[in-house]
Amino acid sequence: MSGPRLFRPITIGNLAMCNRIVIAPMCQYSAVNGCMTDWHLIHLGNLALSGAALLTIEATAVVPEGRISWADVGLWDDATEAAMARVLTSIRRHSDMPVAIQLAHAGRKASTDLPWLGNAQIAPDAENGWQTVAPSAEPFEAHENPPTALDRAGMDRIRDAFVAATRRADRLGIDAIQLHGAHGYLLHQFLSPLSNHRDDEYGGSLENRMRFPLEVFNAVREAFPAAKPVTMRVSGTDWVPGGWDSDQTIEFAKALEARGCSAIHVSSGGLDPRQQIPVGPGYQVPLARAVKQATSLPVIGVGLIAEPEHAEAIIAGGDADMIALARTILYDPRWPWHAAAALGARITVPNQYLRSQPRRYKDLFNPPS
Ligand SMILES: Cc1cc2nc3c(=O)[nH]c(=O)nc-3n(C[C@H](O)[C@H](O)[C@H](O)COP(=O)(O)O)c2cc1C
Repeated sequence: MSGPRLFRPITIGNLAMCNRIVIAPMCQYSAVNGCMTDWHLIHLGNLALSGAALLTIEATAVVPEGRISWADVGLWDDATEAAMARVLTSIRRHSDMPVAIQLAHAGRKASTDLPWLGNAQIAPDAENGWQTVAPSAEPFEAHENPPTALDRAGMDRIRDAFVAATRRADRLGIDAIQLHGAHGYLLHQFLSPLSNHRDDEYGGSLENRMRFPLEVFNAVREAFPAAKPVTMRVSGTDWVPGGWDSDQTIEFAKALEARGCSAIHVSSGGLDPRQQIPVGPGYQVPLARAVKQATSLPVIGVGLIAEPEHAEAIIAGGDADMIALARTILYDPRWPWHAAAALGARITVPNQYLRSQPRRYKDLFNPPS
């Protein structure tokens, strides 16, 4: 097969995708009581016309208290499921892009205000706030209200909520589940020695810290049809000495691979305010590469990938199997078209937009469908 690697098809599990470009999950803080709104229809609908291979629905809370903020999307009851069904039904009328959903629980980082209102934690007794939970009763920032340490019954409830949301996602025709094990949210809080100080079989050794995230993975994998992928998003490092790091990520990836995980999406950070992140183009790609070299899992790289040539080099150089875009594709929702033009590939666009092909890119668009 010739042509740019970024535009070669790939199949993960039974999910065939037309190129290597993933739309990363992006919270929109625009839901009402967990229900998607017209904003989600406009936002996701727009991205579903972008020519990317996979659309990932934002971090979707499996229980109300698992939301980062009071305006997060959820999938915990019939009302939240119906709201998502309305959005997905409309999008599917006009786009055949596969859809993944990121299922999440924010743990001690829940109960915050919206980013554009300052992002601060909201106290449990204040409007739009609630009591958070976590592996240990330690807050993200010292001045914050501490979370309640989860007991076994609480962990069971959360695991079961991940399963219930998975069943709803399947009913909605969602093609893949991504579990949110990154950015300092609940599953990552169990993984990292900086946030998990439990003295039971869920804390201490790496094996113990991985236990609850793996239990959730197993339960979700079991509940979702075998042909459909279940993947995990991880932080490849906490960027804090003594924290979660690349070696532990590799061990976690191996454990996931052994349990039938379909792919791993390698991000970083978010667990500890002391993090020192060497931000720059592709700064997380080495973390993805390390997992790719140590496992046979398909790996998705992410983080400040903005130039088509850079994306192509990541795939062609074997650093990752796919790349994910967040800010890049928010800023330029036609990025895959522009990347196809820059790299000399062809792309499928909606029939309604065929006349937009610039003359200088003859044959950029595939013929009408
Ligand atoms: C508006 C916005 C919302 C985000 N929401 C999520 C989210 O719901 N889940 C998640 O794992 N990461 C989330 N992220 C992180 C992105 O998925 C991505 O990992 C990060 O922005 C780095 O990629 P980029 O440089 O292409 O933006 C969000 C980022 C942005 C900009």
